[in-house]
Amino acid sequence: MQIHIYETPELAAKAAAALIAAAILDKPNMVLGLPTGSSPVNTYKELAKMNREGVVDFSRVTTYNLDEYVGLEGTHEQSYRYFMNANLFDHVNIDKANTHVPCGVGDDPEKNARDYEAAIEKAGGIDLQFMGIGRNGHIGFNEPADAFPDATSIIDLTDSTIEANKRFFASKDEVPRRAISMGVGTIMRARRTLLIATGADKAEAVRGMVKGPVTPRLPASALRFHQDCVIVLDKAAASLL
Ligand code: F6R
Repeated sequence: MQIHIYETPELAAKAAAALIAAAILDKPNMVLGLPTGSSPVNTYKELAKMNREGVVDFSRVTTYNLDEYVGLEGTHEQSYRYFMNANLFDHVNIDKANTHVPCGVGDDPEKNARDYEAAIEKAGGIDLQFMGIGRNGHIGFNEPADAFPDATSIIDLTDSTIEANKRFFASKDEVPRRAISMGVGTIMRARRTLLIATGADKAEAVRGMVKGPVTPRLPASALRFHQDCVIVLDKAAASLL
C-alpha cells in the first residue's frame, strides 16, 4: 500500500486524475473501475479537463462502476448511472456503449449481479479500480460484515450508510435499502487499485484501513493485501495516521 498525502482535497484529486490518465496513456483500451459519491467528483472534473485539452483519450476505454441502488432506473437522478453521465461520461470522449453500471432494476437482481461479474471477467478483468471509502470503512457497498463478499452481489445497506446518503434524497425513507455491488473479491482481482479519501470525517476509516487489523468489519482493510494499491489522501483524511 503506497500512501500519498496532499495539502488540500483539490491537490489529492489532481494526483488521482494524473494516475488514472497515466494508466490510460499506458493502455489506451484499459478497463477502468469507477466509483460515485463525493470523493471522485473533483478527480472527474480534472479528467474532463485533461480530455478537453487533449491530454487523455477515453475513446477506447471501457468502464465498470462499483455499484448501483436496487430499484432505481438509470434515468433516476439519484441513480449511479445518472451520476456517472452527469459527472464524467457526458464530459469526455468515451463511447457510452463501453460504460457499465450494475443494473438495479428487473425481476431478478441476483441474476443481474452474476451477469455483471461475468461481464467483468469476459472483458479481461479490471486494470485499475478507482474508489472512495465510506465512514464505516466500506468499499463499493461492501458493508462491515463477518466475511468479505467475493463476487458482485445484492447488499443490504446499513443504517449508517442510509443515513450518510440521505442527503441526496428528499427524505431518509426514499433512500433505497439495497444495492448491487462488486464484491471485495471483485475489487481485489483488479490489477491495480486507487483509493481517494478527503476530509476529517474519513480520518477514522482511513486509520483503520491503514493501521488496524485486516478484517471484514472494515472492508477497505483488505486493500492492505492488494499487490498494487495507491491511497491518495488530503491532510484532514490522513490526520489520524
Ligand atoms: C460509491 C461507493 C461508495 C463510496 C463511499 C464514500 O460508488 O462505492 O463506497 O465511495 O460511500 O462516499 P463519498 O465519496 O460520498 O463520501
